[in-house]
Amino acid sequence: MASKATILLLLLMVAQTFAQQNNDAWQPRSYGPRAELGTRSLATGRRPQNNQQALEDVEEVDLRRREPTTPPPTRPPPTFSYMDRFSGKLFHKIVRPLQLRNVVFSPFSLHALLGMIYGASEGKTFRELQQVGVFGESPSAVALDFERVIKFKEPLGAADLTLATRVFYNQRLGGINHSYDEFAKFYFDAGTEPVDMDRGKETAAKINDWVADSTRNKIRDLVKSDDISGQMQALLVNAVYFKGRWEHEFSIMDTQPAEFHHTGGRTSQVAMMYNDDVYGLADLPELEATALELAYKDSATSMLILLPNQRNGLPSLEQQLSRPEFDLNRVAHRLRRQSVAVRLPKFRIEFERDMTEPLKDLGLLQMFAPSSQVTKLLDQPVRVEKILQKAYIDVGEAGTEASAASYAKFVPLSLPIKSKEFTADRPFVFAIRAQNTVLFVGHVEDPTPMNARNEPKSDVYNK
Ligand SMILES: *[C@@H]1O[C@H](CO)[C@@H](O)[C@H](O)[C@H]1NC(C)=O
Repeated sequence: MASKATILLLLLMVAQTFAQQNNDAWQPRSYGPRAELGTRSLATGRRPQNNQQALEDVEEVDLRRREPTTPPPTRPPPTFSYMDRFSGKLFHKIVRPLQLRNVVFSPFSLHALLGMIYGASEGKTFRELQQVGVFGESPSAVALDFERVIKFKEPLGAADLTLATRVFYNQRLGGINHSYDEFAKFYFDAGTEPVDMDRGKETAAKINDWVADSTRNKIRDLVKSDDISGQMQALLVNAVYFKGRWEHEFSIMDTQPAEFHHTGGRTSQVAMMYNDDVYGLADLPELEATALELAYKDSATSMLILLPNQRNGLPSLEQQLSRPEFDLNRVAHRLRRQSVAVRLPKFRIEFERDMTEPLKDLGLLQMFAPSSQVTKLLDQPVRVEKILQKAYIDVGEAGTEASAASYAKFVPLSLPIKSKEFTADRPFVFAIRAQNTVLFVGHVEDPTPMNARNEPKSDVYNK
């Protein structure tokens, strides 16, 4: 019966806002005129052979012709977004209780999975999902909202978002409900596949192959053979892959070691990127924080950074963010485009987390219990055993792949540019969002250090 039938939900996600090749080492800045001219150089994606900057790579940009700043707000007014609200509630439950250094997860894909189960539930399970997911009354209306992002990729533009969901079900224990199967395919693009749960090793390999394929090989060996047992009815796997190029790329040449102030007072040298360009910026006095938005190229997606004004301000900022009046949608509405000198450390996070407890904390109880009323997924009611999420994010200068932008700005000293400063030299919160949708959220306490791999070889220095 229901007590024996279980499903294990696995979510995996990969976000990459910039692919780094092996040449992602920072380069010593070696050309003289920079200090005087205020030049900024260019990413060629190739490591210079010697200490001389290849000047062919530098092209002049007339900075007196300023880009327009502070245009009238073009964003729609902030409206209530249940996707934002769910993300805020979940963030609080995941980040608070654990003293985790670096965190990243995808509220959107977990929410989509709950939306899928919402359409398969009845009774108390249905009501709990409705409350926790902040869903409206109709599962198909909810499904339609997810379909816009998953299938039509509406706000994404040139950014690459792949969301792949598959239900692997036990070929021996149960059959799939065919009309539910159609619902899941239609709205969530979710396929189904019967597997042999008695053959753990082969089935794990089959699932892992599918995961590797859907995450461009970024996540491998997700399922181990002893995760699978003959008792298991189904395994829901949800893999997300996001890749975006910055609208304004950072130059590899400008990445320098810089001091980062960790929570607790320790400092260390991290790989700090630098760019001076037009960004969305907002002062948030009530949060004692500053928001910066880094847009992705040709896309309505962006990364929002929330930087506490105080060095040890992260815990209180995160506590404030859990309050409904501070949803990210409203924060984003207050951004104004202006000239900003941005210093942002590179970071790379791999994060694996059992989402079961945080969801129980939010009030999702019955679907994990033997009395589960997830009735429409298979031919018989199933209980959800576990929800695992594995996420990976890599944030770097931007597009070192293929041809990176090759440009420089010459800033005459006689013409001071009044850029605002934004220096993320202390722990911060980040979110990758599309309008009203939080694709990834997390915080960074330990950015990428200037470690051995990143350091230039000593012969480069000694020349
Ligand atoms: C199968 O799914 C459909 C649509 O979701 C639902 O109406 C129906 O009741 C389900 N069948 C069973 C046997 O639960």
